[in-house]
Amino acid sequence: MEMQIISGSCHRKLAQKVSRYLKIKLTPTQFSSFADGEKYVRIKRKVRGDDIFIIQPICPPVNDSLMELLITIDALKRASAGRINVIAPYLAYSRQDRKVISREPISAKLIANLITIAGADRLFTIDLHKDQIQGYYDIPIDHFVGYPLFAAHIKKQNLKNIVVVAPDVGAADRARKMATLLQCPIAIIDKRRTGHNQSEILNIVGEVKGKTAILIDDLIDTGGTITSAAKALIIEGAVDVKICATHALLSKDAVEKLEACPASEVLFLDTIPPTTKKTSKKIKYLSMAKLLSKAMLYIHLNKSLGKLFTWEDKVTKL
Ligand code: R5P
Repeated sequence: MEMQIISGSCHRKLAQKVSRYLKIKLTPTQFSSFADGEKYVRIKRKVRGDDIFIIQPICPPVNDSLMELLITIDALKRASAGRINVIAPYLAYSRQDRKVISREPISAKLIANLITIAGADRLFTIDLHKDQIQGYYDIPIDHFVGYPLFAAHIKKQNLKNIVVVAPDVGAADRARKMATLLQCPIAIIDKRRTGHNQSEILNIVGEVKGKTAILIDDLIDTGGTITSAAKALIIEGAVDVKICATHALLSKDAVEKLEACPASEVLFLDTIPPTTKKTSKKIKYLSMAKLLSKAMLYIHLNKSLGKLFTWEDKVTKL
């Protein structure tokens, strides 16, 4: 089975980096829209029997990205592709992973059904909002995590007296694993959600006074959660705050909020392309392209991906 890489129209820059690492040219593909906005996709090379990797995060505009992904999978299935691997570094709708009040959807499950029924054989993603979403899929999922890349960056700064902080209870597990890599304690912010993109900080569990606090979250959307957390940490006596978040959704005035908040550095991964032209000197993007290229090659060769999870060994050993 020959390996082929298709870039959806969402994140060509990431796909191009991966294509350079793997020395495989992107498969020519046509993406266009009808006048009413209906999407059209055509793969311009034969794919019969081949191992196809589609790189397409489901990112803003989320519904267009999703539909384009689904019809690309459909085109590949109908062209007899050997195996269809979806590389969706960010999966929108993951925040709607359970019913909290009556008459709500579980959109994360619906997305899983759509991707599976369209014909995907495998999904690669990174930092799902909740690990349990893996169980919504009946196809294999390779679920990677971003904190080791952030931990490596922080380690290079040789900071003394650090604490990793989870901005809510749901992020505690991620914070604990990152703290294990950085060999430092953790703290947890007790947050109450008051609506979509709205929350209120109730308490900080753990010692942050006199320390550099490293906040770790899966995503920053409007920036409300993380900037309130940064302010609360400074009020509690932290000397500096660094923010790490995998997915930079950066909606509305998120960049302004990050610029104005007391954090000195804001780190993201390049799981999605920039969603805004606004920038801040504090914001840096670390690339996941090298790790992704290796993962794709291992998947193609049916090699275990365990080697790429080297941090798991460290977490177990410590
Ligand atoms: C919440 O559970 C998530 O992990 C993020 O903290 C949240 O969705 C971020 O949203 P915003 O940036 O709008 O506060």
